[in-house]
Amino acid sequence: MTDPSDRLKELQEAGLRAISAAASESDLLDAKGKYFGKKGAVSEILKTVAYLPAEEKKRIGGAANEARGALEAAFNARLDEIRERERLAREGSGLLDVTLPGRSASVGHRHPVSRTLSDIVSVFQRLGFSVRLGPEIEKDYYNFEALNIPKDHPARDMQDTFYMDWPEMDLVLRTHTSPIQIRTMEGMRPPVRVIAPGAVYRCDSDVTHSPMFHQVEGFAVDRSVTMADLKGLLTEFCGMMFGPGLPLRFRPSFFPFTEPSAEVDIRCVICRGAGCRVCKDSGWLEILGCGMIDPSVFGFVGYDPEEYTGFAFGMGVERIAMLRHGINDIRLFFENDIRFISQF
Ligand code: DAH
Repeated sequence: MTDPSDRLKELQEAGLRAISAAASESDLLDAKGKYFGKKGAVSEILKTVAYLPAEEKKRIGGAANEARGALEAAFNARLDEIRERERLAREGSGLLDVTLPGRSASVGHRHPVSRTLSDIVSVFQRLGFSVRLGPEIEKDYYNFEALNIPKDHPARDMQDTFYMDWPEMDLVLRTHTSPIQIRTMEGMRPPVRVIAPGAVYRCDSDVTHSPMFHQVEGFAVDRSVTMADLKGLLTEFCGMMFGPGLPLRFRPSFFPFTEPSAEVDIRCVICRGAGCRVCKDSGWLEILGCGMIDPSVFGFVGYDPEEYTGFAFGMGVERIAMLRHGINDIRLFFENDIRFISQF
């Protein structure tokens, strides 16, 4: 039987050869496992040392520890070399080539939602409307009460409201831009022709709903404003947004602050009315709600409903941007993925 110390010498030499031949960290770990890891050959010999007579124990144990120490040192040195080589491969030689062309700053552009919003606003400005803004944290009174939506009215369930945490202040994140109707009418006498763009909030999130989105509200009040004016205006607007001659239809609907109320559909811009997934085979796409301002709303702002009439409408900006660009998931607008945003 060979003396264990000769066997240890052989193992040490073979191990050192394997370590210096290792080309990668994983080769190196293989060598360690084979020769001096927990289950490696040197460790196996060390385990038998306990059964040897005392002076043998010292001799073989010493030789085994020495072999393991040498292998460990070689292992660590080789590991440093391999890591350094990989770092250089990753980072280049470490030299800076100052003759390479620089990276030019790319020119950004406006977000598709901002662009659609300003397109909507400028169409109405050309049609004689002026812009009013209002607060995003809104009084319950303006968001609901004065729009003919009293507390406990079932219409409050139509909008999943974010209530502010101070119940005594009666504040909400506005669920629509309709409160700007009230704020505007409180401050001026007719004739009024205003659009009110801005962010609104609802506790709702899926492919077509985002907890924050944008609306444009519009309204006009004067002597003898009629539903025909509303229809003419919206027909003009849809033509300017989506292309002239686009057919639209008015469907009877309900909103607490308008009477009568309607929803407006445009002919599907994807399939041109033939029926597709986007329009759910109906050939029509809903784009806004509208109606004649309910006389009870005039009551809240001191307008005489015998003297004045008015119309109002409200639309979702993201929805219109999605229809214009054929986007099927509203969340894409808010993920800030440059691969998406840079397409518009
Ligand atoms: N405020 C409504 C909403 O957010 C939209 C709306 C519908 C506004 C009809 C109007 C209107 O002015 O007449 O759901």
